Amino acid sequence: MKLWGGRFAKETDALVEKFNSSIGFDKRLYKQDIRGSQAHVKMIAAQGIIDLQDAQVIDEGLEDILAEIEAGTFVFDIKAEDIHMNIEKRLIEKVGPVGGKLHTGRSRNDQVALDTHMYMKEEIKDVASLVLDLQKELSELAEMHVETLMPGYTHLQRAQPISFGHHLMAYFYKLQRDGERLQDCFKRTDLMPLGAGALAGTSFPIDREMVAKELGFAALYENSIDAVSDRDYIVEFLAAASTLMMHLSRLSEEIILWSSAEFGFVELDDAYCTGSSIMPQKKNQDVAELVRGKTGGVFGDLMAMLTTLKGLPLAYNKDMQEDKERLFNVIDTIKISLKLYSGMIATMNVKADHMAAALENDFSNATDMADYLVKKGIPFRECHAIVGKTVLYCIQNDKRLVDLSLAEYKDISSEFAEDILEVIKVRNCMKARKSRGGAAPEAVLFSIEKGRGMMKETEVFWSSK
Ligand code: ARG
Repeated sequence: MKLWGGRFAKETDALVEKFNSSIGFDKRLYKQDIRGSQAHVKMIAAQGIIDLQDAQVIDEGLEDILAEIEAGTFVFDIKAEDIHMNIEKRLIEKVGPVGGKLHTGRSRNDQVALDTHMYMKEEIKDVASLVLDLQKELSELAEMHVETLMPGYTHLQRAQPISFGHHLMAYFYKLQRDGERLQDCFKRTDLMPLGAGALAGTSFPIDREMVAKELGFAALYENSIDAVSDRDYIVEFLAAASTLMMHLSRLSEEIILWSSAEFGFVELDDAYCTGSSIMPQKKNQDVAELVRGKTGGVFGDLMAMLTTLKGLPLAYNKDMQEDKERLFNVIDTIKISLKLYSGMIATMNVKADHMAAALENDFSNATDMADYLVKKGIPFRECHAIVGKTVLYCIQNDKRLVDLSLAEYKDISSEFAEDILEVIKVRNCMKARKSRGGAAPEAVLFSIEKGRGMMKETEVFWSSK
């Protein structure tokens, strides 16, 4: 019979059984479910709600069930619907009717909320540490390439000379904010919902603070209806995860472009690429493409979660069971993507000569030519026009700015002196951008140092969690 079978005169329809059951996916929460139940049973015994001996029998039974699940001998049953009732049913099977005291003063509504909060706290922490790993790889590679010239782009047109290290640090700082978003989200997941009961609290003299302390929660939900009716902490995590995946997806797009023969800026290690079943010469960037592709799925999960919640009256509705597959998919996707990225970045071959060569035949130094005149006192807008005309002249005459003679420069403007030929060398253009956060090697090294300090602070935050 069902744990809730008392008021039913008929068996559940087989298709309903299948449709209603969540055990296929929520068995992932078994450890949190058991640890949460153990904390609950300890508390109701301490409060004199059940006998200490009964509590001990239940606690040991739960410990045995944990071992059975981890040994792979536990038989999950869709008839018992979800992880909570699978475990409770097995407990009663093992220890007898006393097992039925476990659910005193509790509902599956606050139980599932507790399990998910506990699970997410662990997972957010794991994801944050994977973000840190990738930040470490990016900053180490960046440090090696603060002098490696590369075209910087806007509109995917060569714009100004930068270094590869400078470009990599852009991703480092995007990930820094992603990590901070995870910290914020963790703070709002660190709330203990148990004790809300089905929705209204309970008439038993429970001690919610004790459960929170036992399970390492920072605070309690202060409204029982709120505690069982929201999944906003999941929405927040899915939003943070979507932003993170959006960043990885942009990096993927760049790595794919950079790996093409047309760019030839990097080559990924063979271990991170795949071949073609028909074209023997191919080496494809499938990992980067899949990260880019899976980003769509993660956005979809966020949208699905928001849409599931938007019309629900308070408090619990079965619709909310749909949160788990969304959450699990995102956690799996984001963790594997971050792990692969750390390995891919650590083993990536940087083709510095190709990057530098890309700067040879273009006008990425045009801004510097204009700035030269600005420094002589000519208003920037006029300088812009003068250099624009010079670029047009060069294009029409198949020349580069560095090909023009000093005499030609003097013809363009009497303000030009001999040093203009040095100023417009691309390496000097990159080195001149010493402004805070700019492309010059010392500015990038400063940003790497700053970044390392931020990583230390992040580590301190998580070490106390
Ligand atoms: N499996 C359910 C879920 O994930 C657990 C809570 C069920 N509560 C209920 N009243 N049916 O949401």
